[in-house]
Order: sequence, then structure tokens, then C-alpha cells
Amino acid sequence: MWFEEANKEGLPEPNAMTLATATIDGQPSARIVLLKEMDERGFMFATNYESRKGEEIEENPTVALLFFWGEAERQVRIEG
Ligand SMILES: Cc1cc2nc3c(=O)[nH]c(=O)nc-3n(C[C@H](O)[C@H](O)[C@H](O)COP(=O)(O)O)c2cc1C
Repeated sequence: MWFEEANKEGLPEPNAMTLATATIDGQPSARIVLLKEMDERGFMFATNYESRKGEEIEENPTVALLFFWGEAERQVRIEG
């Protein structure tokens, strides 16, 4: 699995991912968050519900995630 490989290869911050959210009008914003857990329920990160991303996810739960592992010349895009 790519994530395990990225971990093994000792890439810096393999769990850092860009989280893109958008307002209900479609105004996007993106920021880095750290992946905490990953299972059949999805990808989990810690944050504050009162943050801008928290409010945007509440009004528009469609988001995108992007992992970039430069040293491995890989990116992984996740949408949902
Ligand atoms: C390396 C790195 C890791 C971060 N990890 C998190 C995180 O796990 N959770 C989080 O809420 N913010 C994290 N942040 C801060 C976010 O990038 C962001 O600035 C902050 O959460 C406010 O975002 P918002 O105003 O769009 O909600 C991290 C920032 C950096 C640079």
C-alpha cells in the first residue's frame, strides 16, 4: 500500500495532506492537515469545528484531499 511504503521510505511528514473545502457557493480554500487515522469509515484528522474548514465542511461536505510525496514522485488524490 502506498501509504505504508511512504512511511517505510522515511518521507518527511507522509501523513501531511492538503484538505480542500468549498463554501456552498463554490469558493474553494485549502490547507494542510495531518492524517490521524484511516479505515473503512474514511480519512480522519483533528480540527476545530469552529474553524473555517469546519464550517465549510458543515455547509458543504464535499471535499478533496491530496497527499504529495515528492521524494517518491507520487501524489494521491482523494475526493468525496
Ligand atoms: C504541517 C502542518 C500541519 C497541520 N496540521 C493541522 C491539523 O492536523 N489540523 C488542523 O486543524 N490544522 C492543521 N494545520 C493548520 C492548518 O493548515 C490551518 O492553517 C488551520 O487549521 C486553519 O485552517 P482554516 O482556517 O482553513 O480552518 C497544520 C498546518 C501545518 C503547516
